[in-house]
Amino acid sequence: MTGTIGSGEWGVGFDVSAQPNGSGESHPTPGKLYGLGVGPGDPELLTLKAHRILTSVPVIAYPTMESGKVLARAIVADFIRPEQIEVPMPLPFSVARSSQPYYDTAAETIAQHLAAGRDVAVLCEGDPMLYGSFMYIFNRLAGRFQTEVVPGISSTFASAAMLGVPLTYRNDVLSIMPATLEETTLRDRLAVADAAIIIKLGRHFAKVRTILDELGLLSRALYIERATMPNQRIRPIADLDPAKVPYWALILIPSQTCPQ
Ligand SMILES: C[S@@+](CC[C@H](N)C(=O)[O-])C[C@H]1O[C@@H](n2cnc3c(N)ncnc32)[C@H](O)[C@@H]1O
Repeated sequence: MTGTIGSGEWGVGFDVSAQPNGSGESHPTPGKLYGLGVGPGDPELLTLKAHRILTSVPVIAYPTMESGKVLARAIVADFIRPEQIEVPMPLPFSVARSSQPYYDTAAETIAQHLAAGRDVAVLCEGDPMLYGSFMYIFNRLAGRFQTEVVPGISSTFASAAMLGVPLTYRNDVLSIMPATLEETTLRDRLAVADAAIIIKLGRHFAKVRTILDELGLLSRALYIERATMPNQRIRPIADLDPAKVPYWALILIPSQTCPQ
């Protein structure tokens, strides 16, 4: 299957078998690129499809933060076999550095495996198409190689389940926004939201808390970090030390509309 957006597949078709070139050598049929959503942290939240592909591809790629393996690989660590080739994709830790050259390098390494006929699964925490690192690989390679994206359970929705709160009813509009937004933009967006999820907290937590206080939203706002993981933590926002809020945390403001 190739190139049919409705089926979740993109890219040029390489379904034909090895083709001889002018010099009599044969090129392998290029491999397929997979974007695998691995869910928010609990390995049991991996889909059956993601598990099947993860355990059958010869090459697995995943982002790292310069300093070692990070979340996406850790979630599926128990399913990775020693004979599978691992391709760490280093990303800059500092936001001062653009990550785009890092994605260029990672995409080229992945492209070499694909051109050599090896299928590559790129792991992505949560869902790959929602603020996912895989999107940058997708943008670079989906036009060149057959590609399939496997959706994952997003941390945003897993967090509502862990917090035990319904998110939206009827005509409610849900806004998902990064805490990295500029302060006035964040305030304007939150002021009109029926329900909201604020991701990428980390060092932006203090700014978010101030805005929630100003808008009278603190009593509705719920905090969770490392949702679905063994070290998941749910805390009242007032108790949090801003210096200790991790990147893997979000604030959820559920809808106030509660139809009977
Ligand atoms: C770049 S976004 C990736 C979102 C991801 N693609 C998804 O669908 O969940 C990273 C942000 O998602 C949130 N996040 C991801 N996993 C989380 C978890 N297990 N618990 C709480 N927040 C999480 C954090 O706010 C983090 O800063």
